[in-house]
Amino acid sequence: MHILICGGAGYIGSHMAKMLASHGHTITVFDNLSTGHQEAVQWGELVCGDLLDQAALDQLFQGRRFDAAMHFSAKSLVGESMSDPALYYRNNVTGTLNLLDTMRSHGVNRFVFSSSAATFGNPITPFISEDHPQQPINPYGQTKLMVEKILRDYDTAYGLSSVSLRYFNAAGADPEGLIGESHLPESHLIPNVLKSILDHGQPLQIFGDQYETRDGTCIRDYIHINDLCQAHLLALEYMTDNQGAHGFNLGNGQGFSIFEIIHTAEAVSGRTIPFTVAKPRMGDPAVLVADSGLARQKLLWQPAVTELAEIIETAWRWHQDQRF
Ligand SMILES: NC(=O)c1ccc[n+]([C@@H]2O[C@H](COP(=O)([O-])OP(=O)(O)OC[C@H]3O[C@@H](n4cnc5c(N)ncnc54)[C@H](O)[C@@H]3O)[C@@H](O)[C@H]2O)c1
Repeated sequence: MHILICGGAGYIGSHMAKMLASHGHTITVFDNLSTGHQEAVQWGELVCGDLLDQAALDQLFQGRRFDAAMHFSAKSLVGESMSDPALYYRNNVTGTLNLLDTMRSHGVNRFVFSSSAATFGNPITPFISEDHPQQPINPYGQTKLMVEKILRDYDTAYGLSSVSLRYFNAAGADPEGLIGESHLPESHLIPNVLKSILDHGQPLQIFGDQYETRDGTCIRDYIHINDLCQAHLLALEYMTDNQGAHGFNLGNGQGFSIFEIIHTAEAVSGRTIPFTVAKPRMGDPAVLVADSGLARQKLLWQPAVTELAEIIETAWRWHQDQRF
């Protein structure tokens, strides 16, 4: 198949490109390189352009016949979405509408969307399944939920099939070390823990150690990037026999606390990680873990990497020899 990967120069999209290429698919990456990296596009052609630029999208579809699109492009910093919601609604919602409508006018009707646990808002249960209420508490989460709703209507009205995958925390890197996580600014815990070792800078800051959890720190669900990408491959296959707008939660179903991440990173790296404890952040729930039962049942998805040490090892290898 010829797959369009929007946002394929970013962390998750570049790993997806590598996996799709290894399965024999042809790839075209469309990316404005706002947070992505040209060096991460090693599999397939890179077309530089912005989803808000309709002429660039028209040109992208000119002479290329895509079988499906995977959409990773988004702005995804929660704090920034609160201070500049217009940027988020425009980029994440209008940009996605532009893409979907261009797909429609070229008869491309299979779509995999990067949604987020942020669509759920404050959890009312520790394990979050698909029937948990979706009540986002920030504009970033709102944009993801809006796209999910648009996808339902586009299925009903135009027969555009989609799978929205709600990621919890993507983590780790390509086991071969060719690509990895490289965000600026970095808002994710594991890269920040590892960078605190390599940069010899400020001690790591953690927010709160008095939560009602096994060691007082917040518990989150970390899923290895390749397991996440594997679910996208299965989602593509799933749409062949199952038309509709589907949504699945994706996490490895195990929660790890911040202290567990720090201690495992210390064991993997053989270094001590200095940290300070700051006040808890508003709206940070104690526990946020996916119930991915539906993805396992319907997509026949099974995460291969279940050990935290294995996730951190791949990330550590990447960060020690980070190429971009
Ligand atoms: N990383 C996580 O743990 C996580 C968790 C939940 C959801 N997500 C979602 O997964 C997706 C990928 O995340 P990531 O960590 O790889 O992010 P990333 O920032 O590394 O990648 C996003 C890519 O999209 C591109 N992009 C952004 N806006 C664009 C536009 N208007 N036109 C063209 N290209 C544009 C960026 O240049 C970048 O290459 C995002 O939609 C994010 O919201 C990520």
